[in-house]
Amino acid sequence: MLRFFLRKHNRIERAALVTLRLALVSDIPKIMSLQQQAESAAQWTAREYERMLNEKSGVVLVAEMGDKVCGFVAGAGIGAEWELENIVIESSARRKGTGRRLVQSFLDHAKHEGGTRVFLQVREDNSAARGLYECAEFRVNGRRPGYYGSTDAVLYVCDLT
Ligand SMILES: CC(C)(COP(=O)(O)OP(=O)(O)OC[C@H]1O[C@@H](n2cnc3c(N)ncnc32)[C@H](O)[C@@H]1OP(=O)(O)O)[C@@H](O)C(=O)NCCC(=O)NCCS
Repeated sequence: MLRFFLRKHNRIERAALVTLRLALVSDIPKIMSLQQQAESAAQWTAREYERMLNEKSGVVLVAEMGDKVCGFVAGAGIGAEWELENIVIESSARRKGTGRRLVQSFLDHAKHEGGTRVFLQVREDNSAARGLYECAEFRVNGRRPGYYGSTDAVLYVCDLT
């Protein structure tokens, strides 16, 4: 019991050291580097991130530990329907609750902008991402067989109540 408490407490302490903010154009090189280190992430160009930062429908949030960006989430939407399109946490910073905080902030942003549902799709075999989405209350909403070659895409939705 005590061990469980200490583990949980340590995780909260570590998560508290991480701050979230809207991404700036100057964060794009680091975002690209995080993305390139994560094979399972969507691989976008710097120009696509730049466009996303400049369009009102897009949102990119970064997580910072000290002054170092250690993760990001990117998505877009207008009105009721939003899509969470990419998320990466630096491998040394994983499993400390940062992904969960970024997803929650993205959901809060979408809701604030009038969103009622957030969609996403993920490789069926990406158990880390699926675990993250399921703990953020996304539910399976469909499947695209063979979308990633021999692997299906699983579609998720989260109702923003
Ligand atoms: C998916 C990813 C963003 C998760 O980020 P993270 O900061 O490690 O996630 P969190 O620490 O917030 O984890 C929240 C919950 O997600 C689930 N989860 C996270 N990593 C997991 C793993 N490797 N296996 C199973 N469940 C996992 C757990 O339920 C976890 O809660 P717990 O730690 O209390 O058990 C990270 O693994 C990553 O960057 N992966 C590579 C990029 C990628 O695949 N992105 C998704 C593209 S669709």
